[in-house]
Amino acid sequence: NTEGSSEAKRRAGEHAADLVDDGDVVGLGTGSTAAHAIRALGRAVDSGLDVRGIPTSFQSRQLALDAGIPLTSLDAVDGVDIAIDGADQVAERNDGGFDLVKGGGAAHAREKIVDAAAERFVVVADPSKLVDPLDYPVPVEVLPDARPTVAGTVRALGGEPTLRAAAHKDGPVVTDNGNVVLDCDFGPIEDPATLASELAALPGVVEQGLFVGLADAVHVGSADGVEVRGE
Ligand code: A5P
Repeated sequence: NTEGSSEAKRRAGEHAADLVDDGDVVGLGTGSTAAHAIRALGRAVDSGLDVRGIPTSFQSRQLALDAGIPLTSLDAVDGVDIAIDGADQVAERNDGGFDLVKGGGAAHAREKIVDAAAERFVVVADPSKLVDPLDYPVPVEVLPDARPTVAGTVRALGGEPTLRAAAHKDGPVVTDNGNVVLDCDFGPIEDPATLASELAALPGVVEQGLFVGLADAVHVGSADGVEVRGE
């Protein structure tokens, strides 16, 4: 149920925020689960923790400002110590790593830049996100001009592309980067690495939402506590 899931998200987010050390540069993920980590980090800052955050979206920047987390950017730091981010789906790989689908909030381009730059990338999730195999429609951010050509190739690859529509406006969702999103339904994704390469290679694709082997750990919250997978 929704209440159980929001409690699970809170536990996961707060648990991951505890990993942040004094002096860290922290990637601030997007979505309702990462929001719990951002709020927890804000409380730690209030109690004296010295961190700088790099937001991955308009939403996470706003939350971080409200929470009182000092902000920085990739061009002002030597590196990112840890990134904490949510996911739409998580699949455990045979090698012990994780594949993710991200971009349900249309933030996956900036999320991937920051999450991939981090020395340690921790995913926060509730149990409903864990699947095998991944089967969530892959969000593909495209330059507006590339929408018809990318949609055509996605169909040729066996996917069904849908232009993401805005909830409170006539027309498409426009990302923080000024682009549109095609949600590409491929059904079960048996080989995420190959699909990720095929999508990333298309002209006009800014970023696709498969995060292949990038995550170091997944903190899965539940009503009983938090299970840490990986690391
Ligand atoms: C944002 O684009 C996504 O990648 C989010 O990280 C993802 O949608 C998770 O959101 P929730 O934590 O709200 O489920």
